[in-house]
Amino acid sequence: MDENNILGKIPDGIGNLINLEVLVVAENQLSGPIPFNIGKLQKLKIFDANINFLSRTIPHSIGNLTELTELDIHFNNLQGSIPSGLGNCKNLLLMDLSSNNLSGPIPPEVLGLPSLTIVLNLSSNDLTGELSVEVEKLKNLGTLDVSQNRLSGLLPKNLGSCVSLEKLFLEGNLFEGPIPSSLSSLRGLEALDLSDNNISGRIPEFLVRFGALKYLNLSFNDLEGLIPSEGVFKNARATFVEGNSKLCGGVPELHLSRCNSKTSASTSLKLKITIIVVSSGVTLVFSIFLIIWFRKKKEQKPTTTHVENSLLQLSYQSILKATKGFSPQNLVGLGSFGYVYKGILEANGAAIAVKVLNLLNHRASRSFLVECDALKNIRHRNIVKVLTAISGIDYKGNDFKALVYEFMENGSLKDWLHPSVGMNKPETMRNLNFFQRLNVAIDVAHALEYLHHRCETPIINCDLKPSNVLLDWEMVGHIRDFGLPKIHSRDKLNDSTNESSSLGLRGTIEYGTGSELSTNGDVYSYGILLLEMLTGQRPTNEKFKEGLSLHNFVKAALPDRVVEIIDPILFQESVRGGTTAPDIHLQRLNSIFEIGLTCSTESPSERMDMSNVITKLCSIRDKLLRPARLHRGI
Ligand SMILES: *[C@@H]1O[C@H](CO)[C@@H](O)[C@H](O)[C@H]1NC(C)=O
Ligand SMILES: *[C@@H]1O[C@H](CO)[C@@H](O)[C@H](O)[C@H]1NC(C)=O
Ligand SMILES: *[C@@H]1O[C@H](CO)[C@@H](O)[C@H](O)[C@H]1NC(C)=O
Repeated sequence: MDENNILGKIPDGIGNLINLEVLVVAENQLSGPIPFNIGKLQKLKIFDANINFLSRTIPHSIGNLTELTELDIHFNNLQGSIPSGLGNCKNLLLMDLSSNNLSGPIPPEVLGLPSLTIVLNLSSNDLTGELSVEVEKLKNLGTLDVSQNRLSGLLPKNLGSCVSLEKLFLEGNLFEGPIPSSLSSLRGLEALDLSDNNISGRIPEFLVRFGALKYLNLSFNDLEGLIPSEGVFKNARATFVEGNSKLCGGVPELHLSRCNSKTSASTSLKLKITIIVVSSGVTLVFSIFLIIWFRKKKEQKPTTTHVENSLLQLSYQSILKATKGFSPQNLVGLGSFGYVYKGILEANGAAIAVKVLNLLNHRASRSFLVECDALKNIRHRNIVKVLTAISGIDYKGNDFKALVYEFMENGSLKDWLHPSVGMNKPETMRNLNFFQRLNVAIDVAHALEYLHHRCETPIINCDLKPSNVLLDWEMVGHIRDFGLPKIHSRDKLNDSTNESSSLGLRGTIEYGTGSELSTNGDVYSYGILLLEMLTGQRPTNEKFKEGLSLHNFVKAALPDRVVEIIDPILFQESVRGGTTAPDIHLQRLNSIFEIGLTCSTESPSERMDMSNVITKLCSIRDKLLRPARLHRGI
C-alpha cells in the first residue's frame, strides 16, 4: 500500500492477519504508534513503513518477528530506545531506523546481528554511548551508517572485522582517538566518512591501498601530520580533509601547507639521500637506480587498480540483492569457470545473468581482465551483451569477480532441443519449428563470422554448443562467451589449442599454425551444432562411438534417407503441411545437411568460411519462403 495518501493509524487488528508475510505501507501519512499486535505476525518477512508520521516507541513485541528479513521504518517520529529484542530477528538482512528521534545506546544485540548483509542504518537519531565491540559480528554487512548521532568514545579496534563493508558512515558524532589500524582489512571500502568527530592522530598509510575507495571524508577532526599523495589522496574530488589544522602536505589541489622537515618522514628521507649522494659517487648511481625502481613500482600499482575500477559499476551488494543472496533458486548455470545466476536489478527491474568466476580455477582469475577487455569491445546482436564486470570482495573477505550479462528469456538452445525429463515446462517448449531452427543457425553463423572476421584481432569462441546459444524473447539466437573466448594472437596460439576441445566430441580437431586454421575449430563446432539441430541427436550420444560419429551418421544417410535422420518433430511438422510442400522441404534440408557436413569435415582446410555459410543458409531460407509468398500473391 506504499506511496498513497493513507491517513490515520495502523489498526490494531493487523495482528489478526497471522499469515501476512509482507507489510509495505511506506510513503503514506500514517501516524500514531506501530501496534503492539504486530508481534503476532509470526510469518512477517518484510515490514516497510518508512516516510510516515509514526510516533511513540518501537514496540518490543517486534522482537517476536523472527522471520523478518527487512525492517525499514526510517523517516518517522519514533522515540525512545531501540528495543534489544530486535536481536532475536536473526534473519534480518536490512534494518533502517534512520531519521527518527531514537535515543539511548545501540543495544549490543542489535549491533551484533550477524545476519545483516545489506544495510544497518541508524543515522540521524539521538543515539548515545559507544559503538560496542559487538560490531565485529557484522562480517557480512555492506553498509553501516550510524552518522549524525551523539555516539562517543574510541572507534572499536575490531571494526576491522566487518570485512564486507563497502560503505562506512560514522560522521557527525563525538568519536575520538585514532583511526584503528585494524581498518586496514576493510579492503572493499568504497566510501568512508569519519568527518565531524574528534578523531586524532595520523592518517594511516593503508588507506592508500584501498583500490575501490571513491569517497573519503576526514574533515573537521583533529588529525595531524602528512597526508599521503597516493591512491585516493591523489584525487582532490574524492578526498576531503578541511578543518584539520595540523594536517600538511598532500597533492597541491588540497591547498594544505607544506610539511616542515621535522614532522615529515619523507623529507627527512630525501635529506638522508642527499647526504649519501654528496658523500659517495658510487652510492649516487645506486640511489638513483633505487629511486627509479621504487617509483616504477609505486606507479604500477595504481594503474592496475585503475583498470579494475573503470569496470566497477554495480557493487557486490547490488548483485547480492539482485540474485537474492546467490540463492540456489536463482542458479541457472554451472561450468568449470563458475556459477551463473539470474538476477533482477533493484534499480530498474532489469533481468541480468551473473557469472561468478571460480577464482580457485587460476585460469579463470588470470584471464578475467583480459576477458573483460575483449568483451567490452564486442557488440553484435547475436552475441550476449556483457553489461559490466564486477571486481571486489565478497562477504567472506575473499576476492570476488563476476561478469554481468543481459538475461535471455527463452533459455538455451539445449533446453529446446533436449528438454530434460521431468522438467516442468509447457508442451510447446519442445516445438522449435524448422524455420526457427534455421533462423537460429543463421544467427549463430553471423555471430561467429563477426568474431572471426570483424574484430580487430580474431576471437575464437572455442566452446560452441547448444547450451551456449541463448534465445531471447523473440527467439533470436545469441552466443555467449561463458566458455571464455580466446583472443587470437600468435603467441597465445598454444594456449587456445590446448583448451579448445571442451565439446567432448569424437574425432580430433586438427589445429595447425596460423589464424585461418584456428578459427576453423569453431567452424567444426558449428557444423556439428547444425547437424545436432536438424537431427535432434547429441554428438555425445551413446551410439556414436567406435568410428561412428554424428558426422558419419548424417553422411551415410545423404541424399536419400534424410527422412530417417531428421528430428521426428520436424518431419511431422512438414507432413502435417506447413507452408511448404514436404518434398521441397526435404530437398532444401539436404543442402543444409551438406553445409553441416562440410563445416565438420576432418580436414580443416576443406571446411567452409563462416561468411560463406551465411550466404548459403540465407539463400536456402529465401528459396523456402519464396513459394509461399508466390502462393499468397496468386
Ligand atoms: C509472540 O509470539 C507468540 C507465539 O510464538 C505469541 O503467542 C505471542 O502473543 C507473541 N507476542 C506478542 C507480544 O505479540
Ligand atoms: C565532508 O564532511 C563535512 C563535515 O561532515 C561536510 O560538511 C561535507 O559536506 C562533506 N563533504 C562532502 C563532499 O560530502
Ligand atoms: C577532543 O578530544 C580531545 C582529547 O583528544 C579533548 O581534549 C577535546 O576536549 C575534545 N573535543 C571535543 C569537542 O570533544
